[in-house]
Amino acid sequence: MNKQTAKSLFQPDILADPYDFYEEQRAKSPVFLDEASGAYVVLDYDLISEAVGRLDDFSNNFNAQLSGGKSAADLDNDEELQAILSTGYPQVDTLLTADQPTHTRFRKLVNLAFSMPKVNKLEDSIREMSNRLIDGFIDKGECEFMEEYAVPMPVQIIAGQLGLDHADAGTVKRWTNAFVDRLSGMMTRERQLETAREVVEFQHVLKANMDDRRKEAKSDILSDLVNARVDGERPLDDAESLSIVQQLMVAGNETTTAALGEGVRLFASNPDQYKKIQDDPSLIPNAVEEVLRMSSGSSGIWRVMHRDAELGGVTLPKGAMVMMRYHAANRDPKHFENPNEFRVDRKNARTHLAFGKGIHMCVGNMLSRKEMTVSFQQFAERMDNIRIQEGATLTYPPNMMLRGLTSLPIQFDKR
Ligand code: HEM
Repeated sequence: MNKQTAKSLFQPDILADPYDFYEEQRAKSPVFLDEASGAYVVLDYDLISEAVGRLDDFSNNFNAQLSGGKSAADLDNDEELQAILSTGYPQVDTLLTADQPTHTRFRKLVNLAFSMPKVNKLEDSIREMSNRLIDGFIDKGECEFMEEYAVPMPVQIIAGQLGLDHADAGTVKRWTNAFVDRLSGMMTRERQLETAREVVEFQHVLKANMDDRRKEAKSDILSDLVNARVDGERPLDDAESLSIVQQLMVAGNETTTAALGEGVRLFASNPDQYKKIQDDPSLIPNAVEEVLRMSSGSSGIWRVMHRDAELGGVTLPKGAMVMMRYHAANRDPKHFENPNEFRVDRKNARTHLAFGKGIHMCVGNMLSRKEMTVSFQQFAERMDNIRIQEGATLTYPPNMMLRGLTSLPIQFDKR
């Protein structure tokens, strides 16, 4: 018999267009070992919902495993690299990569900073920013949407919240790119050194901003963090605060950028659905949920097994890496009727797992929902007939955990 090499979820062509793979694999077994990567993958909505709640079996402490192996040891022995990093602050696990009880301690503090009342207070400045960005291209009837809107919008919001002004948004994007590249495991040594320098630069600038907030609080997230008390007692130390700020910056930028881009791509590809939200703007909050369901910019997040355990009839061994594929769960036909159809009035759109579920569910979900809602309201009001420029090729760069367009040239009629 001819032995064929099994397909892997993580091969670039499948990452770019994974839908047939999801269907084929779901029919065989929705929990499976992806042989090429050695990781297990879960594709089923109900099984993911179950797994992320089983905290004794599934751990979020996956950082060590991700950066483990030969290359991490090489990095530890790289004197030039270590010399750069030693001028900064150590990396500590606080939110995404921490388990209980450490996770609970830090999450409580961040929940306050991102509560609904805090996010509502940002609405006017989000709308002002949205209009300013649209003003920049509205008279041209066309734009490179990622560059001119989807990237700057979340970056500028986060920059403001971190005590940097809008002029520093480019710096925030450069730091974010450095952290994202460090997660990719695919850097040249030169880039490793460069990103290490950028991490240290980020740490020192943020540390100075935090010190300013200690002297004089403002109404931003940074002030909330420096004034927070862990377990009601001690303040966060510098490494802890920096770890939290770094996660907010990285997790908040790439994903919201991706969601804004996917929203516009979906509206351009489904003009009847765009017309619906223009005719009835009260549908916009539900359209936001449907865009999140369809796009799932945080396409999958890792877990690592605390101990041997079973999921969906498959035994997952202690120490195994397991990918919760939120992107596939959101297209699970058992949960969403005709899952590949974009329907702004889909009744159960909000039950998507684009923000995860359980204790690690996205802390920035209300902020990104607000950015998307305000943006879609302003698009609906100011742009008719959005279309993708003829001949444009839309590409999703290969990435295990993130999914988003790098370029989206559009045309539209000014309203
Ligand atoms: C559309 C935009 C976004 C998407 C799709 C998204 C997606 C996610 C997902 C799936 C998780 C769960 C991780 C897990 O299961 O382990 C998560 C966690 C997280 N997100 Fe988001 N996110 C978005 C926006 C944001 C924003 C705007 C921020 C901050 C400003 C943010 C900060 C975080 C943090 C800090 C965590 C870790 C929470 C924890 O472990 O307790 N995200 N996000």
